[in-house]
Amino acid sequence: MDRLEGHTAIVTGAANGIGRAVAIRFAAEGAHVVLADITEEPRGGGETTTEAIHAVGGSAEFLTTDVSSWDDIRALVTLAAARTGRLDVIVNNAAIGAGGRLTETSLADWDLTMSVNLRGVFMGCKAAMAQMLTQEKRGEVRGRIVNISSQHGMISSPDHLAYGVSKAGVVYMTRQIAADYARDGIVCNAVAPGKIMTGMGGHEPSDERLAYARARTPWPRLGQAADVASAVLFLASPEATYITGENLMVDGGWMAS
Ligand SMILES: NC(=O)c1ccc[n+]([C@@H]2O[C@H](COP(=O)([O-])OP(=O)(O)OC[C@H]3O[C@@H](n4cnc5c(N)ncnc54)[C@H](O)[C@@H]3O)[C@@H](O)[C@H]2O)c1
Repeated sequence: MDRLEGHTAIVTGAANGIGRAVAIRFAAEGAHVVLADITEEPRGGGETTTEAIHAVGGSAEFLTTDVSSWDDIRALVTLAAARTGRLDVIVNNAAIGAGGRLTETSLADWDLTMSVNLRGVFMGCKAAMAQMLTQEKRGEVRGRIVNISSQHGMISSPDHLAYGVSKAGVVYMTRQIAADYARDGIVCNAVAPGKIMTGMGGHEPSDERLAYARARTPWPRLGQAADVASAVLFLASPEATYITGENLMVDGGWMAS
């Protein structure tokens, strides 16, 4: 199926992990994908996301983007809209985690985490919204935002105070934007991954953290990036319209148990 045929989509943090899987999935569904990341090189080497998409005949371009920079975000949205005059979807996925528990979180850890995870999502939404509001509707929808949150925006994130707070902010921001812009035809949702085996941040999880994740996850395996990409695709596609302000968990039942 070509559920995103003729659509232009931005995916931030697209060099690795969940962002890469989302970008590849979107391109396979016919979208032109604008890939944004601080680096194009995948963490473990090998072909870039752009190369992977082009290799199977998909359409994508990469722009070096630091999501904590307003200038970078504006340039990203301008590039995406230049092609067809539209930006149909933005996926605000890039995130980091710095610091530990409260007493182990420095002011620099806090500011760094917020600048990428919360300010970055705020600016991605803001710049995308400015473009989307200028567009004609496709069906009922002028544009779609999918923010990547986390189950750790809803329950405590062991040893990651700033990360959890930033993700709670993303969940709230998603609801507020959804409510404020529903009458403008903007659909805004979040996807909350549980434990996904991406090597997030370049660190393989310790045996202890893996054991914790397995103990918390009722489903008999941990998640893959493709599990999250399926949910993001659904919320980015015309199939999901009367769904807005939702925080869709892709967590193998973590939050249900
Ligand atoms: N992996 C998990 O278990 C898990 C669980 C819950 C939520 N999440 C969320 O899913 C999203 C993706 O996580 P992942 O596991 O794929 O992580 P990842 O570390 O594999 O990929 C993140 C990407 O973001 C990029 N990035 C970092 N800082 C950036 C910046 N300032 N500007 C632009 N790009 C930047 C990195 O270069 C990397 O390519 C994040 O929002 C994360 O919080 C992941």
